[in-house]
Amino acid sequence: MNVKIYDTPEVQSFLNIVSGFDKEGGSDRGKQILHRILSDLYRTIDDFDISAEEYWSAVSVLNALGQASQFGLLSPGLGFDHFLDMRMDAADQEAKCAGGTPRTIEGPLYVAGAPETKGFARMDDDPDPDGEIMWLHGQVRDTAGKPIPGAKVEIWHCNSKGGYSFFDQSQTPYNLRRTIIADAEGRYRARSVIPSGYGVPEGAPTDQVLKLLGRHGERPAHIHYFTSAPGHQHLTTQINLAGDPYLFDDFAFATREDLVVEGKRVEEHTDAKQHGVEGPVTEVVFDIELSPTEEAELQARHKRPRAKENETQESQLAGTARV
Ligand SMILES: [Fe+2]
Repeated sequence: MNVKIYDTPEVQSFLNIVSGFDKEGGSDRGKQILHRILSDLYRTIDDFDISAEEYWSAVSVLNALGQASQFGLLSPGLGFDHFLDMRMDAADQEAKCAGGTPRTIEGPLYVAGAPETKGFARMDDDPDPDGEIMWLHGQVRDTAGKPIPGAKVEIWHCNSKGGYSFFDQSQTPYNLRRTIIADAEGRYRARSVIPSGYGVPEGAPTDQVLKLLGRHGERPAHIHYFTSAPGHQHLTTQINLAGDPYLFDDFAFATREDLVVEGKRVEEHTDAKQHGVEGPVTEVVFDIELSPTEEAELQARHKRPRAKENETQESQLAGTARV
């Protein structure tokens, strides 16, 4: 079968009806967007002569993705998260508020409500015998290099097995998740464990889609950050640990040159020792620069469903994300 019917009046008017253009209710914007997406998909079916079998296989993969709560995992894999970052970078350029530490993707595994401390936090609630002790610290500054006292630094990362607390229920709920309020010099410090890289589970629906593209689902070791302070643009970012084999081959496209940080082994770290850490540590330093803004909306993280953010069903669903 090789027919082309997309451009016929019947199909075009059918698309209008399917998109609710002849109905009063619903959302005009929703109708316009769905009409575009459906039009593109109908045309794809026509152009590639997609068979019924191929179409229903795709439906089955979508069902499996939903059942496994993996759309949030496939999303960065298909580059959507990075594409949204590229759009925000371009908007910053246009508004002439570029500069500061680069943003990168949030991912689906943030959990709101982590314990908050001032200046220093111990993040590892659970023992991790295979994990190296990480001494993570840095200074939050503005783009002129002036420290920002009281900046809010939220950090979350996985353990040495690649598991995130809350989603991995074998861990204490907020293990390796903390909010640190920077001290009078804008500094934050944390004792934690060096995270490992991790991959999409073998055979999972996300893995099936990536395999179709001849791609892997591995991520290099990384640490997530939200950083905010009044009068400054909220920053969502991650750092990557240098030396990881997937450093520049991240399936989620999150690595950025300026966000690669080297972990250095220090046999006896004076500052860590003052915070009760005996013996060798791997020191990771990450200074953060925030751009100025007067716009209240840009000073807070953008809205999206996040685990434990509120009582909505979307928030609860975000808490079922799987990796
Ligand atoms: Fe992550």
